[in-house]
This record gives sequence, C-alpha cells and structure tokens, in this order.
Amino acid sequence: MDASSQTVAFANVTATLLAWYDCHARVLPWRSPPGAPPPDPYRVWLSEVMLQQTTVAAVIPYFERFTARWPTVAALASADEADVMAAWAGLGYYSRARNLVAAARVVGALGAFPRTEAELRALPGLGAYTAAAVAAIAFGEPAAVLDANVERVAARLYAVAAPLPGARTLLRRHVADLTPADRPGDFAQAMMDLGSAICTPRAPKCLLCPLAAPCAARAAGEQERYPVKAPKRIRPERRGTAWWLTRGDSVLLVTRPPRGLLGGMRALPDDGWSARADGTGQPPAAARWRDAGSVSHGFTHFDLVLAVRTADGIADPPAGEWWPIARLAEAGLPTLFARAAQRALAESGQP
Ligand code: ADE
Ligand code: SF4
Repeated sequence: MDASSQTVAFANVTATLLAWYDCHARVLPWRSPPGAPPPDPYRVWLSEVMLQQTTVAAVIPYFERFTARWPTVAALASADEADVMAAWAGLGYYSRARNLVAAARVVGALGAFPRTEAELRALPGLGAYTAAAVAAIAFGEPAAVLDANVERVAARLYAVAAPLPGARTLLRRHVADLTPADRPGDFAQAMMDLGSAICTPRAPKCLLCPLAAPCAARAAGEQERYPVKAPKRIRPERRGTAWWLTRGDSVLLVTRPPRGLLGGMRALPDDGWSARADGTGQPPAAARWRDAGSVSHGFTHFDLVLAVRTADGIADPPAGEWWPIARLAEAGLPTLFARAAQRALAESGQP
C-alpha cells in the first residue's frame, strides 16, 4: 500500500468502526445504545472506575448493587465510607473506593460533574484514563481514551514497533487522530468492544474484523507481535501469616489502618507483612496455634503467600470485633482475607 492509499484507508477507520459498533455494541448497564444521548455521568464514572483492573463480567453485579444502593452522586457523597468499602469488597484496589467517596463529595460541593478532561482529572482518583473516558462517554468531548484493549487495537492497526509503556505517547496520538468530534464516546467504546471480541490478545479474528483492510499488522501477517511490551520485572514474593482466632461462634476481625495496603478494610489480624518485606510470624497472643495451610495473592508490586493459623478461646485476645462466623459474608472482607477465612473454615471442618 503506498502512502496516499494508506491515508485514504485511515480516513475510513473511524466511520467503519462506528458502523460496526452500530450493529455489534455490547449492551451494558452503564451504556447508552449507539448514537443515543449520553448516559448519566455518575454511572459512566462509577463503571469506568470499577472497570479498571477488573473484567466487565465481574463488574456488572457490583455496578447493579452500587447503583441500587447509591443511585446518584449525591447519595454516594453522603454515604458512610466504611459501607462503600464493604460494598467494594472483592473488587480489589480499595483506594479506588475511598477516592470514589472523596470525589463524590467534591462533585457535591461543585454542584455538578465537571465536563472537561482537565477538570475531571482534578477529582480524587481520576487518572488520565478515567478523565478521558468520562469526558468522551458522558460529555461528548473528543478525548483519546486508551485502555489495554484500545492500545492493542491501535498498536496493530499502525504496527507500532516501539514497546509499551514507552509507546503510549505515540499510540495516544494515533487514537486522538482517529477520535471523531461527533461520537467520541461511541468511538472509544467501539475500540474497547473490538479489542474484547475481535482483536483479542491471542488469535485475533481478523476475518471478522471491520478494520482488516487498513490494518498494518494484518497486512504483514504479524498480528500477535503487537503490542510490543518491555520485558516484565519479576515480582518479589513476600510471606506473612493471618490469625483465625475464634471464641464460640465468632471470629476476631480488625480494621486495617486507613492508609496503606487494603487500608480501612476489615481483615483478619496478621503479622505485619504489608508494611515490611515479610511478616514477623509473631502471633498476637499465646495459644496453641494450628496450621491451616496458606493462600496466595498477587498484589501490584509483590506476590504474597499468606499462612493461616487458627486457635480457639484464648485467655488474652488482642483488640478487635468479635464477628459471627455465620455472617462473615457481611463483613466486607477483601478477597485475600475471605480466602484465608475459607482456608481456616475448611481446616476446622466447617463449610
Ligand atoms: N472497559 C472499560 N470501560 C469500558 C466500557 N465503557 N465498556 C466496555 N468495557 C470497558
Ligand atoms: Fe486486530 Fe486483526 Fe482487526 Fe488488525 S485486522 S485490528 S489485528 S483483528
């Protein structure tokens, strides 16, 4: 393909992709149908925050529960932060939940959602991605929205040889060039849907792809070469211990300090693994501790192997809440501790 036909082909990418989206858009609870007026900014913002680091399938039930309980940004602004943290339990990256409440309170004080990418970025927790996504989807601003799906599609379309994350600047420019002034939100979500359904990480379905003609990676037969990624640093492993301390039908829970890993969440007492390279292994009280195996969990900067040890009815327990074991699901434990609790219960022969 010579340079001029390449330009002509790319002029068609936007229109072709939007036409594909008109027929193939996923129906999702935070979306408007293609071409329809934009959805409620609160719902767009909430969904985009939830969708960072989490799959669409996992987010849908959380989104439904959240919007049933806090249907407006004003409702979320007056929510108890601890209730929001508990409702977030299982989604991970809990600072997102704390920032959500903080941002809702700022929006309440402002009187309305800010509409531009720059103003949105000033809200607590709104990074480049979320600000661009909300500006484009809720307010029709022609912002370039780049998530992992969009980056992959753009890297293949233009055969971008530079590795991520460094290539992001160039990819952003390509996506900005393709983003239309009239339907930027539909365009962003069309790129996401194409990346999720057609231009998949492995074995992209180029035969079904509306962008096959202009796609440089396909022309070269090298779809899976893109996006090129810088070699991953290996994540260190940490070890720690969590303590399952029971008294009658209850278990001792603590609330973690507000700052730091899993901050402000209810949890099992542990040996301090989050603050240092490894836990101390020191139990919080003298008892006949029994081993209940371990659970593994990947955090952003390290992998944790958390041993679980159990004891019952000790004389001098540490401070905390005695929580009925039968109602543990209501405690809002983050996934790591919910799994540690399952380990302890399995070991003691309970369900
Ligand atoms: N992932 C992140 N934002 C999304 C959206 N609006 N639709 C589908 N997947 C997404
Ligand atoms: Fe992705 Fe293939 Fe479409 Fe290119 S032609 S955008 S590699 S699915």
